[in-house]
Amino acid sequence: MNKKRFSQLLATCLLGTTILAGCGGGASTSTPAPAGGGEAQQSAGGEITAKIGVVSFLSGTGAAYGEAQKAGLELALAELNEANKGKLKIELQMEDSGGKKESAINAVNKLINQDNVVAIIGPTLSGEMFAAGPVANEAETPIFGISNTAEGINDIGEYVFRNSLPESIAIPTAMKAAQEKKGFKKAAFIYAANDDFSVSGFKTMKATAEQMGLENLGEATFSNGDVDFSAQLTKIKELNPDVLLVSALYKEGSLVVKKARELGITATIIGGNGFNNPQVFEIAGDAAEGLIVATPFSPEKQDEKVQTFVKAFEAKYGKKPDQFAAQAYDGLYIIAQSLLAAGKADRNALRDQLAQLKDFQGVSGKLSFDEKRTPVGEAVVVEVKGGKFVPF
Ligand code: ALA
Repeated sequence: MNKKRFSQLLATCLLGTTILAGCGGGASTSTPAPAGGGEAQQSAGGEITAKIGVVSFLSGTGAAYGEAQKAGLELALAELNEANKGKLKIELQMEDSGGKKESAINAVNKLINQDNVVAIIGPTLSGEMFAAGPVANEAETPIFGISNTAEGINDIGEYVFRNSLPESIAIPTAMKAAQEKKGFKKAAFIYAANDDFSVSGFKTMKATAEQMGLENLGEATFSNGDVDFSAQLTKIKELNPDVLLVSALYKEGSLVVKKARELGITATIIGGNGFNNPQVFEIAGDAAEGLIVATPFSPEKQDEKVQTFVKAFEAKYGKKPDQFAAQAYDGLYIIAQSLLAAGKADRNALRDQLAQLKDFQGVSGKLSFDEKRTPVGEAVVVEVKGGKFVPF
């Protein structure tokens, strides 16, 4: 434990009673509290109990991401607690960040210092993780992104993990597959300049286009929260690209696609990770047809594990899971597996187990972490046809 963390913990222990388990107190049936913190109890019968915090975009313009994540987590939670009866009991503590950095920081602080969680899942946006990840890292609490796809997430620190496939893998996969079929040569770009994920995705798109020898006709920007993209797209139309690369969250991204088609832009449209949510069909309607994206998860994949998950999800929620639900589901499975391997709900022991993840077979594919804990996995390319994503 670093000095700062020790003094913070000491101060909290002297001040209050909220984090008894982390201060050496805790439930009467518990073994001594772990040095690494976390509400870690192992009952006399050997069952590990672990409280895990969740920070998700549950309200506001990206609420469909949070809704999907919550659904995936709750399905995994029910399955895991049933399958691991007597060995592991997980409790989730959900916090809504509304997609805002400040709220994500506050939620992470609360989960660590008041709720004494052993780990945190989320926050949803890369920008939120860049803001709140350092807080968890400093407090030596594992924080596990289930949807952060920007470059540099794992550079935050050694307590920062993610199972979300980075755009640096997904975007080149989509662009190369699309070019093989469509043979485009002239690219234009549009992205949200005030969103870390969208900026990072744009940089990957631009670098990939350069590598592929595409001509860069121009770049346009907007801000998250904008609803009118006419000016930018009118200019792009004049440039006459044959491929338009859009890096955005689903709300703004879908409105961009809709307006682009309304203005008569006929270019192939390739989007980033933010488009992997069914809200795209609601917002863009027919304009979404032909949109190409890469994703590690498709509910259409003919794989036993995927189809078992899809059926269980449909039975519980009456709809198919998207990539955000799938990566949330896998994320909790990875944490549960690592807690069982650690044998206790201890932040440092959990971190060390997570860092060793190799060949985890999830519903969103096979996943390992490299030496920097960056996920190594594969993306599949999908396109919108008939109001749903189908293999490209
Ligand atoms: N993939 C998006 C992000 O990283 C949601 O922010």
